[in-house]
Amino acid sequence: MSSVESQRRVLSGMRPTGRLHLGHYHGVLKNWVKLQHEYECFFFAADWHALTTHYETPRDIEQSIWDMMVDWLAAGVSGNSATLFVQSQVPEHAELHLLLSMVTPVSWLERVPTYKDQQERLRDLDLATYGFLGYPLLQSADILIYRAGQVPVGADQVSHVEFTREVARRFNHLYGKEVGFAEKAEAAVHKMGKKAARLYGNLRRAYQEQGDTEALETARALLKEQQNITLGDKERLFGYLEGGGKVILTEPQELLTPDSKMPGLDGHKMSKSYGNTITLRDTTDEIAEKIRRMPTDPARVRRNDPGNPDVCPLYEFHKVYSNDSTRDWVQKGCRSAGIGCLECKQPVIDAIAAELGPMQQRATEYESNPDAVRLIISEGTERARDAARDTLSEVRQAMGLQYRQ
Ligand code: TRP
Ligand code: SF4
Repeated sequence: MSSVESQRRVLSGMRPTGRLHLGHYHGVLKNWVKLQHEYECFFFAADWHALTTHYETPRDIEQSIWDMMVDWLAAGVSGNSATLFVQSQVPEHAELHLLLSMVTPVSWLERVPTYKDQQERLRDLDLATYGFLGYPLLQSADILIYRAGQVPVGADQVSHVEFTREVARRFNHLYGKEVGFAEKAEAAVHKMGKKAARLYGNLRRAYQEQGDTEALETARALLKEQQNITLGDKERLFGYLEGGGKVILTEPQELLTPDSKMPGLDGHKMSKSYGNTITLRDTTDEIAEKIRRMPTDPARVRRNDPGNPDVCPLYEFHKVYSNDSTRDWVQKGCRSAGIGCLECKQPVIDAIAAELGPMQQRATEYESNPDAVRLIISEGTERARDAARDTLSEVRQAMGLQYRQ
């Protein structure tokens, strides 16, 4: 696979640790639905990652995978546009994780900020395990095995993508130097033909001797156009431009998902660990019940007290769900005590129910046709395994593990 193809490939995963909620929908799934039409997308259930924290209750994971996949499909992620699979069904991730562990300093893992943070936050779980320390490296294997150039993540995961780049760089540095790399690269230069070869040589020199990054970009563009050299040679020439060896593992970039503004029922960000969620499967009655119980402006004790939407958690929902005229109705009615809080909550209840209704209908259809869902996952798994096997075989070769009997 070439660097150009890597740039078009997106990979992301989600841990199956419970019911998906509106935060997942607004923060992740809507973005995936859009990306699947713009990139070659791989989306997977990170069940091994769920095990790193929930190893005492592994039975819940299976049901969560199933519910999660149905929710993805119901939200509009499509098995035709994207490749959907379950991490543990592609055991190649585990082999790459093991091989990467040989070259990853323990101190790099200890320094990843989420390591100590999560141990603090999830204090009722014993996370002093080898598996939990290796969480970001397993994530690196997930990404690198598909040579994905782009990884859509929230701000909390950016450090894991940075870590992945460091691991890839170290791997390429250690194993990208084939025997006779420079000779092979020079031979590849000639295969491009006289004119292109001369241009490549000049641009490479301009970059290496004068640090001319524009020359580097032009040379890369030149390589992308070449049709008479093999992909292996192309990769060599990409590496040779910068003086290094062959690029075996692609350094990924984070595709930062804008922070979801989805508020929770208590005014904090919606999150399962805060117990402030509306799940994608809540019935209209459950939605109504949850919204009606929500706290409002604490200064508005009686119906006749005027309120202030700026300090009211419910108003955060109007920001997501209401149009200007409804928001104007709230602003005026609240500040003048013209409307009551229950009255104010009704349009939010209606809007959430309207958003979830069609999704829940699709979820019911998928649930009553489990074979269709299984087929989507098994076809996705096959596609994923093909791509993973390709990378792994190059990795084994680069590390000298391609033994012949
Ligand atoms: N750690 C990610 C999260 O908690 C899930 C994940 C696992 C992931 N592997 C990944 C995300 C690879 C992106 C790429 O959200
Ligand atoms: Fe909040 Fe609406 Fe009540 Fe004002 S009227 S306090 S915005 S719920």
